[in-house]
Amino acid sequence: MKENILVFDTTLRDGEQSPGASLNVQEKVEIARQLEKLGVDIIEAGFPASSPLQLEAVQRISDESGTVIAALSRAVENDIKASWTALKGAKKPRIHTFISTSDIHIAGKFAGDRYGRTLEEKRRTILKMAVDAVAFAKTFTSDIEFSAEDAGRTDPGYLAEITEAVISAGATTVNIPDTTGYTWPSEFGRKIADLISRVPNSGNAIISVHCHNDLGLAVANSLSALENGARQVECSINGIGERAGNASLEEIVMALKVRSDLHNFQTGIVTEEIYRTSRMVSGFTGIIVQPNKAIVGENAFSHESGIHQDGMLKNRQTYEVMTPESVGVPKTSIVLGRHSGKHGLKARLEALGYTLADAELESVYRRFMEIADKKKEVYDDDLRVLMGDELGKPSTAFVLDYLHINSGTASIPTATVRIRHREKVFEESATGDGPIDACFRAIERALGIESMVSTYSVRSATAGREALGEALVRISDGSVSFNGRGISTDIIEASARAYIQALGLRLEHFENNTPETIDHGV
Ligand code: KIV
Ligand code: ZN
Repeated sequence: MKENILVFDTTLRDGEQSPGASLNVQEKVEIARQLEKLGVDIIEAGFPASSPLQLEAVQRISDESGTVIAALSRAVENDIKASWTALKGAKKPRIHTFISTSDIHIAGKFAGDRYGRTLEEKRRTILKMAVDAVAFAKTFTSDIEFSAEDAGRTDPGYLAEITEAVISAGATTVNIPDTTGYTWPSEFGRKIADLISRVPNSGNAIISVHCHNDLGLAVANSLSALENGARQVECSINGIGERAGNASLEEIVMALKVRSDLHNFQTGIVTEEIYRTSRMVSGFTGIIVQPNKAIVGENAFSHESGIHQDGMLKNRQTYEVMTPESVGVPKTSIVLGRHSGKHGLKARLEALGYTLADAELESVYRRFMEIADKKKEVYDDDLRVLMGDELGKPSTAFVLDYLHINSGTASIPTATVRIRHREKVFEESATGDGPIDACFRAIERALGIESMVSTYSVRSATAGREALGEALVRISDGSVSFNGRGISTDIIEASARAYIQALGLRLEHFENNTPETIDHGV
């Protein structure tokens, strides 16, 4: 009998904390649906206390999912209440609460005297806060996870003490994060074995691990922990997450599958859904998967040298330890074009993992036709980027009706824009240092606003000369920021779309008057 390893996916929480990766509610809902198809055991859907949009996303995912849905909360009552508000519609809710346990974190994050004057006093306070948080969470639901933040650098005796205490208070999973990605595989494995042997009630909870990739060791550390008694592994699609990211789900799962000769573990992951999930996450977050990334990179199954190609033709196993089909890499790519109908588009999007309501299909089809007119052949990656663009739209969106640019080596760049918004039309022209500057100035004039762009970038989102360009614009207004994303085969148009999307989100924010202080948007 194989032993089951629980796969806890944190793409929508830690993954979303990747710089520049914020996802909107609809995108999170789509990713959660795909994670369910992938067969993850737990979806960590967000951190509800951190913003109303986070809370809404967890709520929407909870309401429709049959998978265990976890919500993160600091070890304080208000966070736990916010998590419960978001989770209460879930069939299988899990409250995940955490507090720092390493001396370095305690000294830095709990410096105030109210936590105690000496390190020892502070440790006592933290232990009490952890136990109180678990006990409070337990009044809402039975499935409680506790995480000892920076456990990788925590004193083993104290880690064992706090683990025993939270299990006694009702924690059903205790997570041991290597928050800073500092540990070494054999060292981390020993830590897990040592913890399990020190904690008398460890058998009453699942021991989980959550490894960061600062030294590129997150997957190795996670596997070593499994060999030493951990039975839940926390990871993210494409390994996205804080700084260098989290352990990558696809690498852990495929390592366990391909090297099943070395252990007795299995996961419930439908590995054929891996590639689709990876592409969806990349499309929505805008974080490109590096070409040589294991399992899901563009080159993971390509063979360049003649010797390799020859070997592959004779026997694929010569240079491949798994098949591309086993992780769902499509054999052939179906190309759509301007003659493709709405049904064809819907079917292709469904094959790529997207579920669209009729109204959404209408607007996606309109954009698809605009792109197909310019690009002739529309590939799967174009569709993924298009979906990322469409799902990011605010409901109060400004619509770019018209854009005309005049630019060249011997002329002053000039832009004219026409923008529609709730039956009104705004039209203006402006000159600028370059065509994008002229375009942004024209938008600002048309909408009567001062320049608000704090960050701007443009990249090629798909391959080839006819690639879709993707522009990202961040605007800041006091302590609030709004991100807009635009795509087009024309990067100036993509930039204009990104800017007006960010402005639409800003408008929506102030109309709803939501008291947020963190980034939101695409
Ligand atoms: O890295 C970490 O310690 C975390 C915890 C909140 C689980 O993300
Ligand atoms: Zn983390």
